[in-house]
Amino acid sequence: MIRHDPRSRTFQLEGQGFSYLLGVSPRKDLHHLHWGVPLSPKAKRALLSDWEKRALEDEHHISREFQRREFPDFGHNDLRTPAFLLEHTDGTRVSEFLYDSFKVLPGKPDFGPGPASRSKTGDQAQTLKIVLVDQLQKLELDLYYTFYPSYGLLVRRTILRNQGRKPVDILKLASASLDLPPGPWNLVRFPGKWAGERQMKDGPLQEGTVRLESRRGISSHEMNPFAMVTRGETSEEKGEVFALAPVTSGNWLIEAELFRDRSLRMTVGLNDFGFKWRLEPGKAFVTPESLLAYSGDGFSNLSLRLHRFVKDRVLGGHWQKRPRPMLINNWEATYFKFDQEKLLKIAKAGKDAGLELFVLDDGWFGKRNDDTTSLGDWTVDRRKLPEGLGGLSERIHGMGLKFGLWIEPEMVSPKSLLYKKHPDWCLHAPGRVRRGSRSQLVLDMGRPEVRDHLFKVLTAALEEAKVDYVKWDMNRSLSEVHSAALPPDRQSEVYFRYVMGVYDLMDRLNRRFPRVLFEGCSGGGARFDLGVLNYHPQIWTSDNTDGLDRLKIQYATSFAYPPLVMGAHVSSVPNHFTHRSLPLKWRALVAMSGNFGVEADLTKWSKKDLKELAGYISLYREIRPLVQFGDFYRLESPFAGPRASWLFVSPERSQALLFIFQTEPWKRGTKVPPVRLRGLAPLRHYSIEGAGKFKGDRLMEVGFLPAPFRSPSQKFICGLYHLKG
Ligand code: DGJ
Repeated sequence: MIRHDPRSRTFQLEGQGFSYLLGVSPRKDLHHLHWGVPLSPKAKRALLSDWEKRALEDEHHISREFQRREFPDFGHNDLRTPAFLLEHTDGTRVSEFLYDSFKVLPGKPDFGPGPASRSKTGDQAQTLKIVLVDQLQKLELDLYYTFYPSYGLLVRRTILRNQGRKPVDILKLASASLDLPPGPWNLVRFPGKWAGERQMKDGPLQEGTVRLESRRGISSHEMNPFAMVTRGETSEEKGEVFALAPVTSGNWLIEAELFRDRSLRMTVGLNDFGFKWRLEPGKAFVTPESLLAYSGDGFSNLSLRLHRFVKDRVLGGHWQKRPRPMLINNWEATYFKFDQEKLLKIAKAGKDAGLELFVLDDGWFGKRNDDTTSLGDWTVDRRKLPEGLGGLSERIHGMGLKFGLWIEPEMVSPKSLLYKKHPDWCLHAPGRVRRGSRSQLVLDMGRPEVRDHLFKVLTAALEEAKVDYVKWDMNRSLSEVHSAALPPDRQSEVYFRYVMGVYDLMDRLNRRFPRVLFEGCSGGGARFDLGVLNYHPQIWTSDNTDGLDRLKIQYATSFAYPPLVMGAHVSSVPNHFTHRSLPLKWRALVAMSGNFGVEADLTKWSKKDLKELAGYISLYREIRPLVQFGDFYRLESPFAGPRASWLFVSPERSQALLFIFQTEPWKRGTKVPPVRLRGLAPLRHYSIEGAGKFKGDRLMEVGFLPAPFRSPSQKFICGLYHLKG
């Protein structure tokens, strides 16, 4: 709970396995005292008395760089990475915000537009608001800490209010800053590329500053907006982990500065690169929120907390707690080359195999026979679909399938009617080339008239198609970021206005179609973030559907995001991206480890393969609640090899699903080790078909090695074991 101790002038946020302490120094500077393991009363007393001594040190003599500061400025004598930077009308960038007041609010306030984690009665969330004031400039900084004690999580956000008579330019405003004590510190990040998202990398932090960021206008393939720092040795089960996630789908930033004394300052939030926001008198700027999570007992516990939080407080709407339909998507089956007859055949084959939803991907509108044309013209191409979207949808529904549609709202093709009519609706710099990427330009989503138009035409298409599902794609980074609708001194606001405009359109379409399931997508997983998940309760994980590459992508994605939100499809072999041919069982088990679907021309599959696929589909139907709503435990990493494994455990721990993938043979002479399970009830007996009955503690302490995996020379074998207790 949140406690204010007036005697020590401290704020203490304490919950399950988590504690966060901050204090007001005698000269009203806000100091960070502790984030991490809950402190015993004795340890807390020692920490506070040590801090009180240091806080009294003369700041004119001793640099503030020796202090741990909660929301540091730049320009006095702390020259480490600041949490904010403001430019005042006299040209100075020096600010001084001192503590003014605080409030503890029940639940979580409504911060207006944009993504926000939810708070519900019963989750005991509370929000601490701390007000800092710059007297000279008449500016107020509100620091918000929403504490979810049962999840051990903190959600931070900052608001700057201009109460003066002059405007101020915001050059940087983080959602949170953290001064952590001397390390050794290790940084875990999730870099990637198209078709190779979220490859996990870790390494020790050295003196200097590391910037993890996106300057692309989307959260990006190149780096996922999620990072962890660990202190000392950390494994799935042991060690301290601190995780940070900016909740935005646009330009984000996580900075880690290891100072000369090996203390670590981190900031998280909006990227300051190319950012400037003019704040007029009487106005406020609200940053996106950022998530802070801590685990004192390894990665596993951290991910469990994050997964539960995402499922309970980030996702919302009709589909939040509902099992997701198993879909068949026509993209890899046909690309742009299809007609109604072809689609119906694929859909029928999907239905016969047991699938539940048919998704019509790119190519149904304008004159879109390849990717050079028609984005923006959201009217059906009757040459391909003579009965229109309505006719196709009716036939699909008639088969007993749900119907879904692909859209890419944020884009316009230079070859399109929309571009002809509104050439200034795209982002472009006056007098400069408009650089296409995948032959498309980006619409200026910050402009209300652009969003109104999109809302109108997309509503018409989705209504006509009577959709049950929408795949919202976004296939390029932003360039020539300039808006024809804004004056010169507001151009540095375009990135932020863009992403807020995207959220606005997502929100309006969500409200207009409350029962429709939206899936986010961005050239695969270039916008896999907590912001999108507020509106789209699942995301296409990667365009790479290869079962071996996917092991790594899905494994690494699971550090922050639950398998429920990861779109995972079985595709044909050889794989279109890697040209590799993996057994169907392998491909199916990888897809069954997430939000299962199929993306293949099943009309070309052999009877044998179709029968086998139907078996997996019916098995997934049975295990779906456990995969989608159970607890996920990573057991063995595909990055380490030669075997990868993971486990889903039901909330009451009566059932579990063990997935094992042998990616390489063991080195000659290796005695094959059993797979050690986690998360089971130690005293419960679990039966595993064909293997026997085992006690939970034995499975967790000794492990389990199914017969097919005992030979060290095996490769590309996999298995799924259902534990019933
Ligand atoms: C990129 C997506 O990731 C694919 O799944 C597919 O929808 C294509 N775009 C369509 O252009």
